[in-house]
Amino acid sequence: MSNPSEADLIHMFKGIPFTTRSSPELLKSLDTIHAREDDVLLVSYPKSGTHWLAGVITKLYNTQVTLTSPIEFGDISKLEELNKVSSKRIIPTHLDYNMLPPNFKNKKCKMIYISRNPKDTAVSMYHYYRDNPNLPTIDTWTAFFDLFLKGDVVCGSWFDHFLSWEEHENDKNILFLFYEDMKKDLPKIVKEISLFLALNVSDNDIQDICKKSSFSEMKSDTEKENSDPNHTVCALTSNRKLIFRKGAVGDWKNHFTPKQNQRFEEIFNEKMKRSKM
Ligand code: A3P
Repeated sequence: MSNPSEADLIHMFKGIPFTTRSSPELLKSLDTIHAREDDVLLVSYPKSGTHWLAGVITKLYNTQVTLTSPIEFGDISKLEELNKVSSKRIIPTHLDYNMLPPNFKNKKCKMIYISRNPKDTAVSMYHYYRDNPNLPTIDTWTAFFDLFLKGDVVCGSWFDHFLSWEEHENDKNILFLFYEDMKKDLPKIVKEISLFLALNVSDNDIQDICKKSSFSEMKSDTEKENSDPNHTVCALTSNRKLIFRKGAVGDWKNHFTPKQNQRFEEIFNEKMKRSKM
């Protein structure tokens, strides 16, 4: 962060960096949030494919559903705003498992966790930071690489986030997905999601949803809506060009030096010792 006003963009809550778009008051009150049994939570570390998954899920329903902004974005009025939603709620969140309001756990709400190769996540987040005035200025990829590994970025450490959720991968109400699997065989994953959500979706409809959820379709759709901030899951920008950047697997290879890759691998292996990944 290069000047005091930039420092004001971020604050810490329970040891995790949040943007000031998540008010401390809201974060402190999250545990009082009213959960509904039919809420579906869409959980991710930033830049893991949240918008893609949200696009797929909302197309799976033939009844009215409301895709809200992430639970942790906004001020205290957010609680009331969520209560006012009369249709079924699809609620995104970047919270780690320990910070997730207990009401969602107690009600056994369905949750879908999407993860992505952290190297690609880091690169995606770097570009997002670089072009987003609501986030601190990042001068170079090298500087961002260090911050990412330290967990000194919004939502904290990728490793802690992933591990906190992975501990619950066998919970029946949680479905684990990988961005790379969606890239490889989207119809298969869409089918898996529809079964998990107990939705009866025909193979034809699945094909149609996949077509409408391709990177190019979603990117061009959203560019048409670019001026409407209500059409984005991400409350940090209404500029959807920042969200639909490249949509590729392996872009990290265009950014990581061999030395950075080695350092990343060492830290990954150390931190993920207790992971099945
Ligand atoms: P890149 O920056 O690597 O392009 P999130 O929605 O969690 O913020 O994640 C954004 C990332 O998902 C971006 O990655 C974006 O391009 C990618 N993405 C969004 N929609 C996609 C789609 N339909 N297909 C593939 N990737 C998509």
